[in-house]
Amino acid sequence: MRIDLIIKNIGKLATMRGSNSPRIGQDMNKIEIIENAYVAIRDGIIVEIGTGKDYENIVSNDTKIENANGLLVTPGLIDAHTHLVHGGSRENEFSKKLQGIPYIEILKQGGGILSTVKSTKEASEDELYNKARKSLDRMLEFGVTTVESKSGYGLELDTEIKQLKVAKKLSEEHPVDLVHTFLGAHAIPMEYKNNSKAFVDIVVKEMLPKVKELELAEFCDVFCEEGVFSIEEGEYILSSAKNMGYKLKIHADEIVSLGGAELSAKLGCISSDHLMAASEDGLKMMAENNVVANILPGTSFNLNKNYANARKMIELNVAVALSSDYNPGSCPSENLQFAMQLGCLGLKMTPNEVLNAVTINAAYAIDRQDEIGSIEVGKKADLIIFDAPNVEYLMYHFGINHVDRVYKNGVLVVDDKKVIQ
Ligand code: NIG
Ligand code: FE
Repeated sequence: MRIDLIIKNIGKLATMRGSNSPRIGQDMNKIEIIENAYVAIRDGIIVEIGTGKDYENIVSNDTKIENANGLLVTPGLIDAHTHLVHGGSRENEFSKKLQGIPYIEILKQGGGILSTVKSTKEASEDELYNKARKSLDRMLEFGVTTVESKSGYGLELDTEIKQLKVAKKLSEEHPVDLVHTFLGAHAIPMEYKNNSKAFVDIVVKEMLPKVKELELAEFCDVFCEEGVFSIEEGEYILSSAKNMGYKLKIHADEIVSLGGAELSAKLGCISSDHLMAASEDGLKMMAENNVVANILPGTSFNLNKNYANARKMIELNVAVALSSDYNPGSCPSENLQFAMQLGCLGLKMTPNEVLNAVTINAAYAIDRQDEIGSIEVGKKADLIIFDAPNVEYLMYHFGINHVDRVYKNGVLVVDDKKVIQ
């Protein structure tokens, strides 16, 4: 068999392989580490994993051999919750936040999400593309090889479509793979403040069918929160989306315990995200219905809020994933490694649990578990070489970028911490 590439001399290979369901309970703390390993790649796919110099039996003259110099290798990280494409920034709200004005209060005053809606409407497709591309480069440099990207800064059809088209173009032109989510119900536009029902009807009757027809999104998401969309509205939007063939996600129980976790279980969402205020009953229902809890600790950190109860989720056998929530308001940072460090420091997860949460469990959170999330034969050769001796070191030494090199589909795309242009 022809082999295109061998990555040899891997000090520790964290495979994350070996289960055909998301990691739950005590298994979340387990990872397979192979020492002195190599990975063989053909056509962008992993074809063999071995140790020592056994690769010498499979190389041919044109096989490229690269040296991992005894470092740590993991699967490409997966950021399963971002608001990647948007116009502008919100540093003007930073001082309000520091004065203690609540996030939802800023939104009620027409700022917050609504201020990014204005900037996104005003931005051209090229401007949105260039800004998002820069963020995507940054994510890749931090070791992220797959990103879920939401719309939700249009709140009317044309701008929602503009955002989704930019994301689609990025997935065609950028090495990072994108997964597309329609989040038309992200906030209630000012003009519908006293008539949210009319806006919900537009989302369901106008936007969802059109986005489906244009094949611009695989998932539908809703922001269920006090003062935003109620559980009843969320249920109507998400169940309509399900009937049209969308897979489901939800921004659930972020600030107030509304019953978002329960709703995600009832509707069979693939993931339920945030969950800082989720009830124990809701979490139990999620475990029973195989809904992945996608926790976003960067948002807790940045909003100065409590962290989600990850320990309880793991105790209840809820599969936990962890993502950045990159967005211009509640989490203006593309750095998933920082979110991982908060996974330990804020969520009290172990380093092994965190690594499972951003690889195999994050793959389940976007329904890509058959292609990515672990280093195993048949999956994409998305590999990160970290300038770190072991998994613990990644979480312990915080605030820096540990990436040495990134391979996407078996191609070197980040070298010396920079995207190869
Ligand atoms: O996931 N909570 C709602 N949506 C985003 C924030 C978006 C924004 O503030 O622009 C979130 O935190
Ligand atoms: Fe979000």
